[in-house]
Amino acid sequence: MAEFKKAESTLEWFDQRLGVTNLYKVMMSEYWIPKKINFLWAMGVILIMLFKILLISGIFLLMYYKPDVNLAFDSVNYTIMQEVGYGWLMRHVHAVGASVVFLVIYIHMFTGIYYGSYKKGREMIWLSGMLLFVLFSAEGFSGYMLPWGQMSYWAAYVITEIFGGIPFIGNELVVWIRGNFYVSDATLTRFFMLHVLLIPLAILGAIAFHFYALRFPHVNNEDGEFFDFDEEAEKYLAGNKKESKVVPFWPVFLSKDFMVLGFFMIFFFYLVFYHYGFAMDAINFDKADGLKTPAHIYPEWYFLWSYEVLRGFFFEIAGISGKDLGLIAFAIANGIFLVFPWLDRSPLVKPANQRPYFKYWFWLLIADLIVLTIYGKLPPTGVNAWVGFFSSMTFLILFALLPVITKMEAKKVGGE
Ligand code: HEM
Repeated sequence: MAEFKKAESTLEWFDQRLGVTNLYKVMMSEYWIPKKINFLWAMGVILIMLFKILLISGIFLLMYYKPDVNLAFDSVNYTIMQEVGYGWLMRHVHAVGASVVFLVIYIHMFTGIYYGSYKKGREMIWLSGMLLFVLFSAEGFSGYMLPWGQMSYWAAYVITEIFGGIPFIGNELVVWIRGNFYVSDATLTRFFMLHVLLIPLAILGAIAFHFYALRFPHVNNEDGEFFDFDEEAEKYLAGNKKESKVVPFWPVFLSKDFMVLGFFMIFFFYLVFYHYGFAMDAINFDKADGLKTPAHIYPEWYFLWSYEVLRGFFFEIAGISGKDLGLIAFAIANGIFLVFPWLDRSPLVKPANQRPYFKYWFWLLIADLIVLTIYGKLPPTGVNAWVGFFSSMTFLILFALLPVITKMEAKKVGGE
């Protein structure tokens, strides 16, 4: 065993046992972040805050929620909303948080795409981010089922049905996921377990991994500039703070983040108190009824773009049915962002506005995703169906073109 001297202070006592001063340096005061970044780089910290808010409000909801098809609806809409003191507040915080977290995830993700933060050694940051996206999607989907309203039931029905399209094992897989031939009590209890235990645990692990993946390649900056972090850190520590291109994570970077976080929290609680309705579908205030299909079934807003890609193909092309084409397109839409670092063939790490071809590609993609999201909620008939078809095709074509235009771009301007 190591030899211990009598500690002169409490800090030294902890230092001898846990190396807290070193830990503080490595994680906070000597973890270097580029100086030249804007408010969009605060989204990561906002996401952590939202995850904490969801966790805490979720724990309070868990005290009264009942995962049983006969009790779930009333436990949410009657017990929590009307009987328990401030139960309504916890529910609104949880529902608004679950919706807004996706808005922030999308901003965070598209900031990464805009600034090329997935390139040159940052691939693992991107992949771990995508893992978080998948986990949050699963968390959102499983949570939406818990109030056991009409949309909980039918969205669960439609989404689990999609797995039936997988060749050979599809039908068995659907039964395995549901735990029954139809969406039932077994489905609710297993999604409850996933929502409150397994997925949150996986998210915690994935967040830790995402942070670890940031350590070696370091955070990107507004210009996509590469520099020696150790050299810049030395300048900072030597007192040359103005000249140095980096600042410590704590207190400098986080204090700026906390300001953005402060504005965000005002916006968040404004939504919680005055506009919570957008996060809760009116149809979901009717109890689930397996015999009464709602006129239009749609998922929450953050899944609408991929849902529209699924519905976009409504007629047969080259002998393949519309349903199968939709499923293939849906699978592509859900997997394509994962391989983004390898689809962009240009080594240029620059903001999109400084990239001659990519800048058009980027804004076209954003416009297309907005159209898909809007039409994903409308009934897929008449003109809507055609808009759905063309915007789904645009999505696929854009991704097919990405390697081509970025290769051309690399030839034109070269990489750095
Ligand atoms: C939902 C949970 C997530 C959390 C808590 C989280 C947290 C963070 C934090 C704190 C940072 C560093 C500062 C910043 O750029 O904001 C960061 C960076 C990054 N994240 Fe996430 N993130 C999450 C999801 C995602 C997703 C879904 C993606 C996209 C695939 C992603 C991709 C990235 C990238 C590429 C960077 C590096 C940015 C740069 O170097 O400039 N993250 N993340």
